[in-house]
Amino acid sequence: MASVTGLEGIVAAETELSMVDGEKGLLIYRGYEAKRLALELSYEEAAYLLWYGQLPTEEQLVDFCVKWSGLRALPAEVKAVIDLLPQEFEMMSVLRTAISAAEETNRGTWSPSLEGALRYTALVPSIIAYRYRRSAGLEPVEPNPQLGHVANYLFMLTGEVPLPAHVKALTAYFILAMEHGMNASTFAGRVVLSTQSDMASALCAAIGAMKGPLHGGAPSEVVHMLDAIATKERAEGWLRQRLDEGQRLMGFGHRVYKTFDPRAEALREMIIRLSADDAWFELAVYVESLATRLLDEYKPGRKLYTNVEFYAAAVLRAVNMPSALFTPTFTVSRMVGWTAHLLEQAGCNRIFRPQSIYIGAMPETAEV
Ligand code: CMC
Repeated sequence: MASVTGLEGIVAAETELSMVDGEKGLLIYRGYEAKRLALELSYEEAAYLLWYGQLPTEEQLVDFCVKWSGLRALPAEVKAVIDLLPQEFEMMSVLRTAISAAEETNRGTWSPSLEGALRYTALVPSIIAYRYRRSAGLEPVEPNPQLGHVANYLFMLTGEVPLPAHVKALTAYFILAMEHGMNASTFAGRVVLSTQSDMASALCAAIGAMKGPLHGGAPSEVVHMLDAIATKERAEGWLRQRLDEGQRLMGFGHRVYKTFDPRAEALREMIIRLSADDAWFELAVYVESLATRLLDEYKPGRKLYTNVEFYAAAVLRAVNMPSALFTPTFTVSRMVGWTAHLLEQAGCNRIFRPQSIYIGAMPETAEV
């Protein structure tokens, strides 16, 4: 049943990119179950599938990876803009500004391209790593062409070649988070592109939407919640107090999923292997089942389960990602989905122009 607030149930576009079945807990990318792809593919292969509509041959994959890694270096003017931003700027704001500064300047016909999609996707980890290291007083690390997108991101942040287990876990998260139908940030980007605006402007809108705590900002809140709970004994009292105050538990609930979020399930499996004997992870599993029970008690019938962000927090923590980089890291992965949607929008464009229902006062003289 369609609802006016939050456009719930409203179909805004047809897409060949992904299907989210919230009742069955199913996420499909171009005919493949995302949770299978997350365990079997590299991030580049999954990106190829979304952008081109099919899996690459070995030769295509090699060419694609070479092209991609050749686009990672930050232009000098983008570095200069980043350096001008105040220290207290959040990373998502830095990212939004840097993507603006990286806008392709070729004016003329409106032609959002796969080349543009690849270029912006390649730049995002470089922007984050450059800013992160500069803010920490460290020398920025140049991209390593020998490493794939995920490993190179960790390499540029730390200056060290990451552990294969970390790359595998983060790759699974990246693939599971790369695309998710008509979510708020994707919709924001498609709306901007539908005016025949450029890809950089559409991506800035998407980044702005992603920044909010109800969308991409949840995983760092999950870590704060678990750190505040600290022990199993404190968990029930802490959660009940939040729910008594009418607050939301971060990492729970979803507009579409009314059963387990398949992304959360897949990440839990992945993280169990990486975090065996980790007390924090044990607490996370305990809090998940307790909170699900309490949410059912406080909000009966609302079907509130863990969403992807809950176990994303565990994966990101396990690979030593600083919590200030959780939402930006979600953005690194979602760039592929966003740009694939922008290309799809460009291919069948009609400007988005919904209506509103006026519920304000009328002039006394007006005829109704
Ligand atoms: N904790 C407690 N209560 C909740 C929660 C929660 N996390 N989520 C929803 N509810 C309650 C809400 O208070 C409302 O209760 P009532 O009917 O008594 O007013 C009911 O469930 C329905 O909520 P809603 O606001 O209509 O749900 P929505 O579809 O508009 O919101 C959501 C979806 C994801 C924004 C929401 O569940 C939420 O705020 N979750 C916490 C933030 C979070 O984890 N965000 C990450 C989402 S996954 C990443 C992505 O795909 O964007």
